[in-house]
Amino acid sequence: KPITDTIEPVFAPSNIALCKYWGKREAELNLPVNSSLSISLAHLGSKTAISVAEEDQVWLNGIRLLAEDKFSRKVIAFIDLFRRADEHCVKVETANNIPTAAGLASSASGFAALMLAVDRFYGLDLDLKVLSAFARMGSGSASRSLYEGFVEWQMGVREDGMDSFALPLDSRWADLRIGLVKVSTGEKAVDSRSGMNRTVDTAHLYQSWPLQAAADLQRLHQAITDQNFTLLGETAEQNALSMHATMIASWPPLLYWQPDSVAAMQSIWQARAEGIELYFTMDAGPNIKLLFTADAEAAVKQRFPDLEIVAPFG
Ligand code: PMV
Repeated sequence: KPITDTIEPVFAPSNIALCKYWGKREAELNLPVNSSLSISLAHLGSKTAISVAEEDQVWLNGIRLLAEDKFSRKVIAFIDLFRRADEHCVKVETANNIPTAAGLASSASGFAALMLAVDRFYGLDLDLKVLSAFARMGSGSASRSLYEGFVEWQMGVREDGMDSFALPLDSRWADLRIGLVKVSTGEKAVDSRSGMNRTVDTAHLYQSWPLQAAADLQRLHQAITDQNFTLLGETAEQNALSMHATMIASWPPLLYWQPDSVAAMQSIWQARAEGIELYFTMDAGPNIKLLFTADAEAAVKQRFPDLEIVAPFG
């Protein structure tokens, strides 16, 4: 039973993985093959409110979605995890302040904010670890969007997944910057769930991925502890490219890159050759996320004039 008819919107930040989650060991619960590490995007994310309604309805950025819409069905299926079949209907309102121009996925912040909203609406008062484990079932990367700053999602070993949740790292990095380079905002042809499954099922190269991810996770911890930006950037970029290598080695091949993605990579490598400490990471889409520090901001802006810049630690 809801404790209230309506809740105030709750916010969760979007996040970008420096060591990626790629591949499920169990599909229903979204249990990952490897642990991952991300950084949250401060004020960029999703706000969600739930209220009692005559019939189930999901609104995204002020527009009511059709009941058969894919996102709408996922949201209602998620609510169904927490209510009995005969319980009241709900109106779920979600708004993303991630600039559409940034071409960023919003499922991570969306399901984290939904989980927080469900927790308030039903008065569950769950522990953050449990909220993270449940958000994971909506979208794997959502487990990491319950927190600010650096976050690690520990893969866990249990079959019920209750030890597969994220925790924040106790580290700040004031001058770290993330730049969002838009290549395309169109919906991707293959979503991350099908992409992962295809890679795990068909790419022999995928066998090396868990080893790469484990080594990169160690390196990232070292980089964060030592505030070693070169180590952070190199590790994140190699991790992203290794993930994409397993996608390309799938059948049918899975290449999320567009010509402009490659052009951006070449521009980044050129910048590095000229002494600018600039690195990138990429998810299951064509857009590039730049990693740099505040002192390189002017040089980076010169090369990427339309950049959306985020300071994750304010
Ligand atoms: O959370 P999902 O199912 O959308 O998967 C996210 C997968 C990547 O964005 C490619 C990597 C990651 O760790 O966020």
